Amino acid sequence: MISAVTFLITLPFIILYLVSNAYKRPPNFPPGPPSLPVYGAYWIILAHSFNNLADAFLKLGRRYKTGMVGCYLAAFPAVVVNDPALVKEMLNREELDGRMDILLGRLRSWWKKLGIFFVDGFFWHVQRRFSLRYMRDFGFGRRCPRLEAVLEQQARDMVDMRISGPKYPAEEELVKGDLIHLPHFFAAPFINGMLHVFGGTTLPRSDYHELWTLARGALLFQRSSDDLGRALCLTPWIKDLFPGWSGYNDLRKGNFYLQDYFSKFVNEALETHEEGHDRHFVDMYLTKMKEEMREKGKTTYSVDQLVMTCVDYTFPAASAVEQVLSFMVERLLLQPEVQEKVHEEIDRVVGRARPPSLDDRKNMPYTEACIREVMRCESIVPLGIPHRAMLDTQLGQYDIPEGTLVAANYVALHMDKEIWGDPENFRPERFIQDGQLKPSLDKSLPFGAGRRLCAGETYARQSMFQVFAAFMQAFHVSAADGWTPRPAPRLPGIITSIPDYWVRVTPRV
Ligand code: HEM
Repeated sequence: MISAVTFLITLPFIILYLVSNAYKRPPNFPPGPPSLPVYGAYWIILAHSFNNLADAFLKLGRRYKTGMVGCYLAAFPAVVVNDPALVKEMLNREELDGRMDILLGRLRSWWKKLGIFFVDGFFWHVQRRFSLRYMRDFGFGRRCPRLEAVLEQQARDMVDMRISGPKYPAEEELVKGDLIHLPHFFAAPFINGMLHVFGGTTLPRSDYHELWTLARGALLFQRSSDDLGRALCLTPWIKDLFPGWSGYNDLRKGNFYLQDYFSKFVNEALETHEEGHDRHFVDMYLTKMKEEMREKGKTTYSVDQLVMTCVDYTFPAASAVEQVLSFMVERLLLQPEVQEKVHEEIDRVVGRARPPSLDDRKNMPYTEACIREVMRCESIVPLGIPHRAMLDTQLGQYDIPEGTLVAANYVALHMDKEIWGDPENFRPERFIQDGQLKPSLDKSLPFGAGRRLCAGETYARQSMFQVFAAFMQAFHVSAADGWTPRPAPRLPGIITSIPDYWVRVTPRV
């Protein structure tokens, strides 16, 4: 009886507290949905589009008549920018270059803040600059005949897996008769290219199973989260209560393959490392680390950071690029006329007697435009990698307090009617003018912009061209029995829709 009375007395206060909390927000913050208990507005976001957060923020933007949606995700303020002009501005603002310190970042790296993706400030600046500067010496991010020759050989091995059939047991999981399994059929060239940059080596075809393990790990990691890190990042304590359901176990498992692989890779290099005799990027890093320790007694360079640098560059090389090509193949099945045009261009520019090379890229605007258009139609990082405001600042007409999560909605940019006219159509021709690629920057900014611009943009664009052109030179693709296209409207930006399917490929005669 007493407890019922106590409850009735406190109930109005609880309701008052919840209501005032629901609408509490920083002064002059962008409009958006109210906060509900525990997860804040995340409930409402999921209710708008459960598996597609970019779409949910588009709907919320329309509902609140705003180009920037502001809300609370659990305890921290968040802003998602839908307006294309503000997306560009946001990406180019230095004070918005921070990253959130979230569980997803820490669980990858022994609970420390390491790597490139999830670090910021001085540490990020030094480590990103060093890696880009010295990986460049081994061909990364520029034209480099040695690296291009590696990619060419790798693409040839990939094609041969289908032409001559599987040679090793692991290949049987990806090639069955005239069927190949995507996305991992494409994985080996991209990852081996990175191993060449880090360690001047590539794994032979007999060891490709190790590369596919990395690709499977990266995919598992991606599928176990969403653009905002799911409930796990908003309330990290659920990892102890629901390690399976929250995605925590799979994130750890997916990350383990990459982390374990590169821990061994770096330790082997360390054992044989001689200062003054740098064989590859990993050696250069170790030399710099020892030098700084000797001269300054402290350094941001460390063995763990080197491992995580390799992990961070390999993760997208083992996932994003193979996924773009798998979306591409799906488009060829949906629009056979696109396949005909790619074949026509390859036959005209390259012929069949030699493999395509990066020199051909400038003469193959249609093939290149297909890659651009598929990245526009299928935003593989729909909300990018969220940034963090490092100072109190302003964006558009609103104030953004320090510590706010700020994310660019790439789907809003990719599907903007004013920019594209008919964004819902897959139409590579939109990137071509007078038989050439349009000189203007790729307006869909698939790799972001500003100082946080994708560190692998050039490698991604070059390697995707080499692998896709070699694949299309060799094969005609058609649907496997039972394949059904994803139902229309094909909403871009659904992380769970990463392609995973069998496709029939027949050698071209
Ligand atoms: C088609 C494939 C790819 C797409 C669409 C893509 C897109 C992106 C985007 C949107 C970002 C976040 C930018 C931001 O924070 O504002 C990013 C970051 C990054 N990407 Fe890529 N990426 C791709 C492939 C690659 C590849 C192949 C590599 C490495 C070889 C790579 C390495 C990185 C790294 C290291 C970062 C973190 C940069 C930083 O935080 O400073 N990416 N990428």
